[in-house]
Amino acid sequence: MSQAARMLEDLEMKLTVVSPALVNFVHEIDGDILVLGAGGKMGPSLAKLARRAFEAAGVSRKVVAVSRFSSNQVKAELGSAGVETIEADLMDEEQLWSLPEAPNIIYMAGQKFGTTGREQQTWALNTYLPGRVALRYRRSRIVAFSSGNVYPFVSVESRGSKETDPPGPIGEYAQSRLGGERILQYFSLRNNTPMVILRLNYAVELRYGVLHDVAWAVLRRTPIDLRMGYVNVIWQGDANEVAIRALGLASVPPTVLNVTGPEKISVRWLAAEFGRLFGVEPIFVNSEEDTALLSDASKAHEMFGYPRVRLDEMIRWVAEWVRSNGPSLNRPTHFQEREGRF
Ligand SMILES: NC(=O)c1ccc[n+]([C@@H]2O[C@H](COP(=O)([O-])OP(=O)(O)OC[C@H]3O[C@@H](n4cnc5c(N)ncnc54)[C@H](OP(=O)(O)O)[C@@H]3O)[C@@H](O)[C@H]2O)c1
Repeated sequence: MSQAARMLEDLEMKLTVVSPALVNFVHEIDGDILVLGAGGKMGPSLAKLARRAFEAAGVSRKVVAVSRFSSNQVKAELGSAGVETIEADLMDEEQLWSLPEAPNIIYMAGQKFGTTGREQQTWALNTYLPGRVALRYRRSRIVAFSSGNVYPFVSVESRGSKETDPPGPIGEYAQSRLGGERILQYFSLRNNTPMVILRLNYAVELRYGVLHDVAWAVLRRTPIDLRMGYVNVIWQGDANEVAIRALGLASVPPTVLNVTGPEKISVRWLAAEFGRLFGVEPIFVNSEEDTALLSDASKAHEMFGYPRVRLDEMIRWVAEWVRSNGPSLNRPTHFQEREGRF
């Protein structure tokens, strides 16, 4: 086995550790889990985590991953992990309605990057499609991914936006996400469909994410813009576990939940940490503004506990990965963006 293959196998293990709480949860679940838009950065590991949890609980339920599967490799890997796959374009009404019924839907399709210049595509996927899915699966419970970007920037002195704070999306990506949330709320109330809306920022694994982006910038001596001076992150495996267990919180009207880690992380501090581990002095441009995109996820922490992978572990793992020239998805997070253009 090549070194890269070994690294990827180790990463997959780190992303799909099944907690006792997750085993307990899936033990009680009343049917299959259908993951819509499963072919992206998070979906494959979420589907495998759910599969492993069912196996650990000794429960014979299916996990079905639906996506266009732009990557055949992802489809094949899911298949060999025991996840059933269905190739479908959710925007195609006929294909959407021919999907199987399932009591548990995790809805992950969305578009952020490439919005500028193709705004209509983003609005269709993030605002229109949630309505179609809500109607198609009106008799199921639905956990839908949204984004922490629905909030305005808040003071860096604060603990971040809470679920009860008024939204204030900046730019069309963020606005289309809030639009998707409103449409889901409408259909939840209209059809009595229990739902959860997850406002996530930012999932982290070793091939992408804020830590990956900052680590590579430090190592390559690329200047790091400090205007967005603080961020929140969560290990992708922990975010995926919250998404599965959130099926148990589905309600009418939808429960809204911020999903991220407990730390307000200074980008300057983070770069300095990677600099220390690499023996490289980070290069900075600009300085911290008084506001940043920050979420307070204490409601999720009260319900599900703190994320199990700690920030210092994530930093160490990412540093080792980057130092070994580990594979990258080449999908920068653009966490520095302050104008909402993605
Ligand atoms: N990762 C993060 O840190 C983060 C932060 C905030 C919010 N979110 C949101 O959380 C969700 C999951 O995150 P992610 O990082 O996995 O997103 P992602 O990488 O954008 O994955 C979403 C996947 O949905 C699938 N999809 C898109 N249009 C589709 C269609 N018409 N029919 C079927 N499948 C379609 C695509 O896979 P195929 O090409 O296989 O169809 C795409 O890769 C997304 O909505 C994302 O915007 C993520």
